[in-house]
Amino acid sequence: MSSMQILRCQDVEKIFRILEYDYTDPPVKSFTRNTKKTLASSWCVKNPNVCFLLAEIDGKEAGFLFGHILGPRIWRIFASDNPRHAVSLALVWALQRINRFITVWRKPVATVRTLPKNELVRLNRPFPWGSTWGNGGIIEFVMVYPEFRGCSIAPVLIEAFESEMVRMGVPYVEAHVSEHNTASIRAFHKAGWATYRMKDGDIWASSPDQVKRGVEDHG
Ligand SMILES: CC(C)(COP(=O)(O)OP(=O)(O)OC[C@H]1O[C@@H](n2cnc3c(N)ncnc32)[C@H](O)[C@@H]1OP(=O)(O)O)[C@@H](O)C(=O)NCCC(=O)NCCS
Repeated sequence: MSSMQILRCQDVEKIFRILEYDYTDPPVKSFTRNTKKTLASSWCVKNPNVCFLLAEIDGKEAGFLFGHILGPRIWRIFASDNPRHAVSLALVWALQRINRFITVWRKPVATVRTLPKNELVRLNRPFPWGSTWGNGGIIEFVMVYPEFRGCSIAPVLIEAFESEMVRMGVPYVEAHVSEHNTASIRAFHKAGWATYRMKDGDIWASSPDQVKRGVEDHG
């Protein structure tokens, strides 16, 4: 029988390797090697506001989650903490803006077809981030390696992140999910989260009730 372990990873080399080869989400995927090294060493391991969780099955890496309580301005904070990376970060930011513009320009009005209608509540307002620095947790990225997908590892990672937040007294956790990412939306549902389809099409995932309850139980 296989055993799953979720740990808050403190191994800089391991985190750097994951950021370099497996982290496929913007903006981190476009960071330079040096920026990723700094992210791994001075933030993922040393910054208590950043949480890098690793899922292992029988000792094998199966997935990871990168979250934090720094709010949506996380990369500005990272740039001001690490001014030597500011130029390359500004470049990544500019490329991302151009890329987003091209994607929006190309994309037809999209709908999530593979989810039953009642699984996504529509909210008639643009995508919001509820958290600011310190008052809420944000899941930046959760990834399960292809050979381990479909085994509910992501929901376990998400719940483990919530537990970390409860431990830190953070009452609220949220995430942004691409509207086409049905697997991710399902994983958040399985972790007990609510998901909302916003006016701009993006999906806002939120777990206020669960985390609030945990914080109350905790203290
Ligand atoms: C999204 C992701 C993290 C889900 O992880 P997971 O551990 O496979 O999650 P689950 O096992 O709960 O499965 C969630 C859904 O994925 C789909 N799924 C199941 N098996 C799958 C497989 N082998 N391959 C791809 N998707 C699969 C199913 O729709 C499933 O929902 P269901 O169980 O209600 O049918 C994972 O697919 C992944 O790493 N994707 C690439 C990175 C990504 O998109 N991350 C999310 C951005 S925030």
